[in-house]
Amino acid sequence: MPNQPDVLEKLVSLCKRRGYIFQSSEIYGGTGSVWDYGPLGVELKKNIKDRWWHAMVRSRDDVEGLDAAILMHPRVWEASGHVAGFVDPLVDCKACKGRFRADKLEDAHCLRKPSKHPGEFTDCQLTEPRQFNLMFKTFMGAVEESAATVYLRPETAQGIFVNFLNVQQSMRQKVPFGIAQIGKAFRNEITPGNFIFRTREFEQMEMQFFVDPDKSADWFDYWKGERMAWHRALGLSEERLEFHQHTPEELAHYAKAAFDVQFDFGGTLGFQEIEGVHNRGDFDLRQHTEFSGRKLEYFDQANNRRYIPWVVETSVGADRVTLALLVNAYREESVPGEDEGRVVLGIDPSLAPIKAAVFPLTKKDGQPDMAHAIADALRPQFAVDYDESGSIGKRYRRQDEVGTPFCITVDGASAADNSVTVRDRDTLAQDRVSTGEIARYLSDRLAR
Ligand code: GAP
Repeated sequence: MPNQPDVLEKLVSLCKRRGYIFQSSEIYGGTGSVWDYGPLGVELKKNIKDRWWHAMVRSRDDVEGLDAAILMHPRVWEASGHVAGFVDPLVDCKACKGRFRADKLEDAHCLRKPSKHPGEFTDCQLTEPRQFNLMFKTFMGAVEESAATVYLRPETAQGIFVNFLNVQQSMRQKVPFGIAQIGKAFRNEITPGNFIFRTREFEQMEMQFFVDPDKSADWFDYWKGERMAWHRALGLSEERLEFHQHTPEELAHYAKAAFDVQFDFGGTLGFQEIEGVHNRGDFDLRQHTEFSGRKLEYFDQANNRRYIPWVVETSVGADRVTLALLVNAYREESVPGEDEGRVVLGIDPSLAPIKAAVFPLTKKDGQPDMAHAIADALRPQFAVDYDESGSIGKRYRRQDEVGTPFCITVDGASAADNSVTVRDRDTLAQDRVSTGEIARYLSDRLAR
C-alpha cells in the first residue's frame, strides 16, 4: 500500500490551469515527454536553481561555477563511455507498434486496451532486444555525414571534466575543490513519463568535487550529508526522503559507489531518485587524458606528489526537485466557516513564485489606486501579483492554489488609517499592517 496519496493527475491539471507547466507544442498535439514551464513554473524552478547555486557556489570558497556548452567534441562521448555504454535494451512489438525497455517489461503497458504488460496478449509479437543509445545525435556544419556527428549532452558533468585544468589553473584552486554548473541535458528515454519526472529534455544541477584519492570516502560521506540537508531545507518532508544505496548491478559504468536521494512521490510511483551522489574515482579524468592526450593531473606541492584526482559527484535534476516540491506542497483542506474547501500549494514561502498578491476589496473609493501603488512599491523587491477580479474569497482561493504565501487587502478603512490586512496562506491569520511597514513585514516572514 502506498504511504502517500497519488496527486500527480491533479497536479498536471493545476499546473496547466494556473500557468505552472504546459505540454510542449500542445497546439500540434504535444511533443513526447517534453514540457514547457509557464510564468509561475519558470519562477519556481529559477528559485530552486538559485537556492542550489547559492548553497553550492556562492557560499563556498572551494567550489567554482561554470556554464559549459551543450555541444561538445564528439570524442568526449567516446572517452566518457556514453557512445558504447549509454544504452538501454529495446524491444518492439509488431502487433501494437509499441516500444519498450526489455529489462522493464513489468513496468510497461501494452498500447492496447485493456492494458496489459507487453507480451501478455496472445498475439503480442515482441522482437529480440537490441541496444538503443539514449543520446540524441545531430550534425555540426552544413554536411550531414558521420564525420560531422555531434551529440546533445546526456549529462552536464563532461563539460566540467574537460574544463578541469582551465578552472583549476585560472582560479588557482587547490585540491580538494569543486566545479558546479546548471544546464540542460537530453536523453532519448524509451519509457519517459510521470509528467516532468522522466523527460527527454531536462535540467541538471551538477557538482564535481576533485579530491585526493585517499580521501574520497570521507568526501563522499560529507557530500551525502550536505545534499540530504539541502533537500530538507527546501521543505521536503522528512518522512518522504531517504537514501538508496546502489547495488553493484545498479552502479553506472563510471561509479565506484553511489547513493540516490529518493523522494516519495506517492501512489504507485512511491520512492524515486531525485539526486545521485557518486564516487566516480578517476574514471573521467583518466579517460579524457587518454583520449585527448592532455594530462589531467594535479601536483600536490605540499607533499611533492602528482596524481589524477578522484571525483565525488552530486547530480540533481531541477525538474525532479520541482515536481517533488509540488507533490510535497499539494493539499486539499476544509476552511472553518465555509462550505467549499480549498486547494493549497504549501510551498516554502522563500521558493514560492509569487510572494504577495495585492487586492482592493472593492473597485470603489480609490481602493484600486491604493492597491496598485502598494503593488508597484513592492515590485522591485518581491514577485507581486495584483488582482481585482471576482469575489475576495475567489481571489484568496486562486492565490492559495498557486502557493502565494501572503495576500494584502486594501479595504474601506485603508485610506483613513493608512494600513492594510495581510493574510497568511497557511494559518489564515490576518494582521493589520501600516502601508509603510509592508515591505519589512514581508522580508521578516520570507527570511529563511
Ligand atoms: N552525471 C551523473 C548523472 O547524470 P544520473 O543519475 O543519470 O547521473 C542525475 O542523473 C539526475 O538527473 C537524476 O537524479 C535526476 O534527478 C535527473 N535526471 C536524469 N534523467 C532524467 C530524465 N530523463 N528526466 C528528468 N530528470 C532526469
